[in-house]
Amino acid sequence: MSTHAATGARQAAAERAKAALMDTYQRQPITLRSGHGVWVTTDDGREMLDLVAGIAVNVLGHDHPALREAIAGQAATLVHTSNLYYTEPQLELAELLIASAFPSRVFFCNSGTEANEGAIKLARKWGKLHRDGAHVIVCAQGAFHGRTMGALAATAHPRYRKPFEPLPKGFVHVPYGDLDALEQSIDSATCAVMLEPIEGESGVIPLPPGRLAAIRKLCDERDVLLILDEIQTGMGRTGRWWAYQHEDAAPDIMTVAKALGGGVPIGAILAAPRADVFEPGDHGSTFGGGPLACAAAVAVMQVLERDRLVEHAAEVGDYLAESVSALAGRGVPIESVRGRGLMLGIGLSDDVAREVAAAALDEGLIINAVGERTLRLVPALVITRGEVDEAVQRLSRAFDAVAGSGTGA
Ligand SMILES: Cc1ncc(COP(=O)(O)O)c(C=O)c1O
Repeated sequence: MSTHAATGARQAAAERAKAALMDTYQRQPITLRSGHGVWVTTDDGREMLDLVAGIAVNVLGHDHPALREAIAGQAATLVHTSNLYYTEPQLELAELLIASAFPSRVFFCNSGTEANEGAIKLARKWGKLHRDGAHVIVCAQGAFHGRTMGALAATAHPRYRKPFEPLPKGFVHVPYGDLDALEQSIDSATCAVMLEPIEGESGVIPLPPGRLAAIRKLCDERDVLLILDEIQTGMGRTGRWWAYQHEDAAPDIMTVAKALGGGVPIGAILAAPRADVFEPGDHGSTFGGGPLACAAAVAVMQVLERDRLVEHAAEVGDYLAESVSALAGRGVPIESVRGRGLMLGIGLSDDVAREVAAAALDEGLIINAVGERTLRLVPALVITRGEVDEAVQRLSRAFDAVAGSGTGA
């Protein structure tokens, strides 16, 4: 496709979207047609290196043969059954999840926000049964837990909350990782503490070393549940199956989604025996844990294990962090590289994150700006060192383009 034709096609897509799609996303000006590994191809035939991976979803990259075969095989066998019956993929997936995490049982749903809704309900019921009706959940400033009303109430940022208030009551927010503030906020009305091991949407903000273990200890001392939202950090991304495993701070309730199905929508809640208080009728989902999504997720978990991709995420993630940090020495406005494994945030000293992400697109690199001063890198776990080198070269050119345009440092 010529440049002229490509621009025309892009404009046509934007016009059609304006007419047909609700105005909820600020989309980048590209149309993606196909993908392979960490590469995607646009409708005008450009090959782009994808370091967003569907926002931490496509852990096996695009077009992975095992995922393709699992989906095709299950599609040819049984797509949907409801939860009135047992299916083998659902049982197998629950067993794999439990084996990867902590002694628990699983509830399946379809997305991250839905997993958090279920976790909130579990904590409330536990409070009713075991803590004299305690129902308040202490959450963190900067937290992002989803867009449905309960998960939104747990989410901190006014930008997401304000248009939809009043939100459900019973959520308080304390500074992320502030142990004293957390301790003071827990009282007889508190049933749980809920947080992300690394805050993703607010800019890849990790907790200080040892803090999660201290929060776990505090929850035990005060007899409240710990809910960890591992929706973005989970499935090997940080170099362990689950981010809490870096500190051996297993939660009572853990929520999972994003990467679980490798791109097929599925979410899950894991509850330790102490918090496993749902009874028939308490909660449900027509689609949750359907055989198609579960077969995909089983394949994802098996490939992560077989190909040692969790360990790979730790190694190649360190390499990516070092390579990006090295750009700082060249006058690029990088202040910090945060995060763990393949969940990295590049902190900038200027408000140029959006310009750099746009310039990166021109260089054939897909990265994501979270706020004005952070670029987020959450690529597929299959990314190689060679692809990291290529990505960092493209990123470097994007920084140069922004500096050259006069908007940068
Ligand atoms: C930590 C965290 N929790 C919850 C969600 C919501 O997940 P979903 O978009 O699947 O509802 C997200 C999505 O970005 C997330 O990063």
